[in-house]
Amino acid sequence: MDVRVEGGAGRDARDDEALSARVTAHRDYTIARIDDRIYSGFLEHLGRAIYSGIYEPGHPTADAQGFRGDVADLVRALAMPFVRYPGGNFVSSYNWEDGIGPRESRPTRLDLAWHTSESNEIGIHEFMDWCELVGTKPMLALNLGSRGLDAARDFVEYVNGPTGAYWGDLRRKNGRAEPWDCRLWCLGNEMDGPWQIGQKTAVEYGRTASEVAKALRAFDKSLELVVCGSSNPKMPTYPEWERITLEHTYESVDYLSLHMYSQNKAKNTAEYLALSETLDRYIGTIQSVIDVVKANKRSKREIGICFDEWNVWYHSHEQDKAILQGMQGWPKAPRLLEDIYNFEDVLQVGLTLNTFIRRSDVVKIACIAQIVNVIAPIMTEPGGPAWRQTTYWPFLLTSLHGRGTALRLAVASPTYETETAGEVPYLDIAGVQDEGRGTVTFFAVNRDPSRPLATSISLEGFGAPRLVDHQVMTHPDLGAVNSMDHPDRIAPRAGTGAVVEDRILHLTLPPHSWQMIKVAA
Ligand code: AHR
Repeated sequence: MDVRVEGGAGRDARDDEALSARVTAHRDYTIARIDDRIYSGFLEHLGRAIYSGIYEPGHPTADAQGFRGDVADLVRALAMPFVRYPGGNFVSSYNWEDGIGPRESRPTRLDLAWHTSESNEIGIHEFMDWCELVGTKPMLALNLGSRGLDAARDFVEYVNGPTGAYWGDLRRKNGRAEPWDCRLWCLGNEMDGPWQIGQKTAVEYGRTASEVAKALRAFDKSLELVVCGSSNPKMPTYPEWERITLEHTYESVDYLSLHMYSQNKAKNTAEYLALSETLDRYIGTIQSVIDVVKANKRSKREIGICFDEWNVWYHSHEQDKAILQGMQGWPKAPRLLEDIYNFEDVLQVGLTLNTFIRRSDVVKIACIAQIVNVIAPIMTEPGGPAWRQTTYWPFLLTSLHGRGTALRLAVASPTYETETAGEVPYLDIAGVQDEGRGTVTFFAVNRDPSRPLATSISLEGFGAPRLVDHQVMTHPDLGAVNSMDHPDRIAPRAGTGAVVEDRILHLTLPPHSWQMIKVAA
């Protein structure tokens, strides 16, 4: 339970008035065990995500297969348990068979989703090799747009089936005898969207997804299947789409997929930073829909949420228009969706991850969209360096330190009023207990633009708490970015001033800041 109180420094307070907040954490007051898979990623055949992103033969750091070593190192460090592939909108007109067999025989195709050319130099074999290289596992999406059941079951059998039958034998002929044993499969992508090749109504999609799930389960009933929910909470069909889809598929799927991208087109930071409250309500609403369908069906089955696309996406909208409207023909791997993230976006990414931690009872998988060059924490220059965007850092530190059990914190914070989400607390905080290591880690954002937030966190039932790590991200310019020439302008710094006294952690959060504070307890 979050307790939100309007403090003396609420919306009526003078700008120079000090802000303070109180938090109580108790070791027995928990939300859920966090599923590590909320720190997963997404890689699409889109723009330069693959070509000159993860793959660039001839690059000084490329390995024998052409995978960039500098990029692989930066991805590996993020410790993503799964990477979703190959789309996205791309998957809805993708023929997976185009990406197998000798490279010289693979066709170049026009990709209808992004108005580009796809050479198919990278296909399923290469992607699986790259997963091994960076220490992640695949989560594969099936084309339920232009194709359907037959292509889906063939692909699953090609990836997971035994040799001694057609698809397994073909896989062996193409260089891989052992099945890959991919456990997670997405039944299409954003099938509610008018932009999607092969868009469906909820009834059409629900029926298709249910039949595909039946076929996949006939092959292997232990596969984990993800059915498409809404593309975002502004879709006209939301949340009826989820209800109808689940009415058809409840007993045959494991997760419902949601997507949301945050934008600050209006350049209103206070409203932008309130979007995580919208995200929280989105998750809450869909949890309720899942519960209603479960009750209607008198089912014992649990369905989780798979938030398989989330991030900030708007900086590149204008510059992408010409390509997306077809004014540049069918370019190969052009610069598309290359959002350059600023310091403000650090706060947004931190807020989103905090929301997933606090909703870890229902959000079991989440994928930052995407990984390299395309709305990504990592950027590259062809033939040149790779560097971390500003948003790499909150993702990295939360992925590495945000594993364990989510604590149900009681938070008393001053608030401000927004159009987006009504009253929003200045303090956003999530707490994670790692029982194995004996630590508790807090991830906190101060949404206030000008006032430090004096925060005390009471640590109940934890033994003798001791501060072990404190990292802070703050910057006077919300628009500051990292770039090829200045790759380290925005990065975490060691925090100062945090102390633990009588089981209370005291620290001051600078205005507009994100921080991670770890105590041994
Ligand atoms: O991640 C970029 C695009 O956003 C994906 O292709 C699509 O699923 C979503 O609309």
